[in-house]
Amino acid sequence: MVEKFVPMGWLFYILAASFLLMLQLNISAEAGVVGVNYGLLGNNLPPPSKVIALLKFRNITRVRLFAPNDDVLKALEGSGIAVILGTLNEDLLNLGSDVSYAMSWINKNVIPYSETIRFRCISAGNEVIPSDLAIHVLPAMTNLNTALRAVNLGKIPVSTAVSTTILGTSYPPSKGEFAEDVNSTMASITSFLAANKSPLLVNVYPYFAYIYNPQNITPSYALFNSSEVVVRDGRLEYKNLFDAITDAVYSALEKAGGASVKIVISESGWPSNENGDIATISNAQLYNNNLVSHVSGESGTPKRPGKSIETYVFAIFNENLKPPGTEQNFGLYYPNMTEVYHVNFTQ
Ligand SMILES: *[C@@H]1O[C@H](CO)[C@@H](O)[C@H](O)[C@H]1NC(C)=O
Ligand SMILES: *[C@@H]1O[C@H](CO)[C@@H](O)[C@H](O)[C@H]1NC(C)=O
Ligand SMILES: *[C@@H]1O[C@H](CO)[C@@H](O)[C@H](O)[C@H]1NC(C)=O
Ligand SMILES: *[C@@H]1O[C@H](CO)[C@@H](O)[C@H](O)[C@H]1NC(C)=O
Repeated sequence: MVEKFVPMGWLFYILAASFLLMLQLNISAEAGVVGVNYGLLGNNLPPPSKVIALLKFRNITRVRLFAPNDDVLKALEGSGIAVILGTLNEDLLNLGSDVSYAMSWINKNVIPYSETIRFRCISAGNEVIPSDLAIHVLPAMTNLNTALRAVNLGKIPVSTAVSTTILGTSYPPSKGEFAEDVNSTMASITSFLAANKSPLLVNVYPYFAYIYNPQNITPSYALFNSSEVVVRDGRLEYKNLFDAITDAVYSALEKAGGASVKIVISESGWPSNENGDIATISNAQLYNNNLVSHVSGESGTPKRPGKSIETYVFAIFNENLKPPGTEQNFGLYYPNMTEVYHVNFTQ
């Protein structure tokens, strides 16, 4: 019974130290709602270890990966950065049709890192609804969830990332509704998310809404640059398009029985080149700085006020293997790790 002889001073010290450690862990677990998307579609990108060091230096505490990559996951170990890990869209069929495939996916990509990386969420695919792959999304989510539970990692939420093409109606935000062709798919996914208390991952791009509808949308509404109310929707008042789009998805979720489902913004951003005077460095810098300060604050959206909004900026780097044009110009950094423009992540 050695414990008997531990002097009280030491006991106090040990208790105090573990209390402080718990406090620190808690603080780092709560830190920041803003992350970045780390895409790898470039043949000139820096090694993952340098990229993760850069994120730490920038105080960026969250990252989204489109697919597992051993080098990136190894670099993330022990970093304290929370990770949304996606599956390749090409894997959805196998993940959905074969639970043992989902188990081996979790075995290979999550279990080796489960002690050293905080997985915020596993995302079954990206922007496949609507498409031929849409029918595999819910089965893949179900099998990934089963596989996680089987190894006591059931606390990691499983979701999918959708674009706002899932909306048939998006204006005004209260009329937001899923489009007819995805309505039943989204209703089943909504039930799964509600039952498992998982968020829906939504890619929200005021940029695209604006360029497809410049007659009805002003640049300042799209860029969070309006101090006036632009859209009144019943009692709710909108000064920016980001909130209006996000609330349209909340309305659609409500209509599908998912009033309790939270939205995580898995992508948002603005290109800095290749579309005239819309995709400029100054507009991209304005959008992303306003985005970070808006989602970090406590305003939330008019429909879900009073809470910060977990959001992942798209993207860290300009990626030269994406389709030519604006798609290659969403990065905060050039591949040589020089900033395209500065965004303040320390709010
Ligand atoms: C990161 O956060 C620390 C502590 O809050 C601060 O001192 C530092 O300036 C921040 N770094 C950057 C690059 O913003
Ligand atoms: C979607 O399904 C719901 C019932 O789940 C129905 O009330 C609604 O009208 C449908 N919407 C469309 C656009 O088909
Ligand atoms: C943003 O708002 C300011 C102040 O109203 C204005 O001077 C500026 O031109 C606006 N910029 C854009 C890109 O809308
Ligand atoms: C990094 O790349 C950008 C874009 O190609 C270039 O403008 C810049 O000069 C480069 N910076 C350094 C330090 O090489």
